[in-house]
Amino acid sequence: MKTLKLNANDLKHLQQAGELLCSGELVAVPTETVYGLAADASNPDAVRKIFAAKNRPTNHPLITHIGSIDQLSRWVKSIPSWVTPLAQAFWPGALTLIFERHPDVSDVITGGLPSIGVRIPDHPVLLSVLQQFDIAVAAPSANPYQKLSPTSAEQVIAGLDGKIAAVLDGGECGVGTESTILRVSESKAEILRSGPLSAEHIQPYLPFPVTMPQSHQESVSGNMKVHYQPNAKVIICSAVELQQRLEQQPHTTAVVVYSDELQHLESEHLVRLSSDCQGYRQGFYASLHQLDKQGIEQLLVEAPPREPKWADIWDRLSRASA
Ligand code: TXA
Ligand code: MG
Repeated sequence: MKTLKLNANDLKHLQQAGELLCSGELVAVPTETVYGLAADASNPDAVRKIFAAKNRPTNHPLITHIGSIDQLSRWVKSIPSWVTPLAQAFWPGALTLIFERHPDVSDVITGGLPSIGVRIPDHPVLLSVLQQFDIAVAAPSANPYQKLSPTSAEQVIAGLDGKIAAVLDGGECGVGTESTILRVSESKAEILRSGPLSAEHIQPYLPFPVTMPQSHQESVSGNMKVHYQPNAKVIICSAVELQQRLEQQPHTTAVVVYSDELQHLESEHLVRLSSDCQGYRQGFYASLHQLDKQGIEQLLVEAPPREPKWADIWDRLSRASA
């Protein structure tokens, strides 16, 4: 299959992306978090293609992306009353909510689970396609199974060229890591995957304390110990240790740093990220993609601050280094 490269700034291309989705094809689309591999959520045959293209186990459930909150009732059985203000506060945005699923939802989307994950993405390009074509799309991150999530159309192509109908290029993703996943019910709210929105952001909207179960049954692929893996061996270390290790193997080692302490560090393969958490998040996957392409053997990552707002970065880093 030849993968079309569509430009989101071109109205004809946007139209083509929507038409491809409506005819049951896979289109990689920009979201504010990472690129998603989208298929018409109401078409199980289309959704099935996602698993084949990514080589993803079929019991790993997919997030359904909707264009407006009124569509929620089509996908979920019931909405706990406290959840509506929460959704209104954060949607469109990087918060996926897990509900009991509507009886009409296909098992292909939910991997056979009784629940479904839904969010409204905060990206003008994807929102306009969803709204204009009145469609909802199931979309995991647009990477081959267990590889890094893409934050640009080029990274999507590097992993999925020839396996999908098209990629809609909407530039680089503004947020940079996958959405926070919150499972909700009448009496509970549990963070199943940490993301850009932390417990502190969410808590004010909840009638009870949010919890973060250490282990849960659901096949949240981001919950597997080995996930988000670049090809190089990833080592998280302090600024001091990083400099020592780099001296031992300068040519085959890459480094990702952010602190003032390493401001003057020099290396053949170096990415300097922002010391501001959101700035860091935005460049994070892109830096791993970039360094991985350079064929290095080890990747030294300066340990980020141990603060709650960095939880999703720590989560992705520890899986990348597992
Ligand atoms: O930001 C994001 O969430 C991106 C963009 C494209 O929206 N999507 C994304 O999808 O990261 P994916 O499939 O790579 O990760 C979604 C995670 C999976 O690990 C899946 O197992 C979990 O969400 N998930 C989906 N439905 C679920 C459910 N009903 N119960 C528990 N976990 C669920
Ligand atoms: Mg993923």
